[in-house]
Amino acid sequence: MHVARKIEAADKPAFYRELAGQLGGLLAGERDAVANAANLSALLHEHLPDLNWAGFYFLKTPDELVLGPFQGRVACVRIAVGKGVCGTAVARRDSVLVPDVHAFPGHIACDAASRSELVVPLLSGDRVLGVIDLDSPSPGRFDEGDEAGIKALAALYVAGSDLG
Ligand code: SME
Repeated sequence: MHVARKIEAADKPAFYRELAGQLGGLLAGERDAVANAANLSALLHEHLPDLNWAGFYFLKTPDELVLGPFQGRVACVRIAVGKGVCGTAVARRDSVLVPDVHAFPGHIACDAASRSELVVPLLSGDRVLGVIDLDSPSPGRFDEGDEAGIKALAALYVAGSDLG
């Protein structure tokens, strides 16, 4: 049974190390990709302040992402590769950090409250399996420390789950 502990960390790297430890506990003994994505969404939503959306899109076909488990408001179900922040992260095979979504050409507004966004790809070697998407109502909410931390959590999730 996972007991959520409030994370009190001295700095961002320590915060994400603690979060990675909690994720490790959640992943232990369970490899179902949807169940693990659901619990990671809940973990992110609970511990990261100032979010309005946290969740997954999976690359079900080579050219389209499909909505996975998330916490937040109802979201668009399908996103073409190359479109929006999520589709751009897939096309680049790299994270996309958007301090101001209004300044990102092609941003897909699922929740009008979103002002900044961080999308990190789920990578298995060179292959993109999907993305983790975080949205915030505050401009400039995410920085390189968040990007590094979420990349580490994404890698743990991929290693600990049975994904296509
Ligand atoms: N803003 C994303 C779409 C997904 S929602 O934010 C949940 C994008 O531009 O790809």
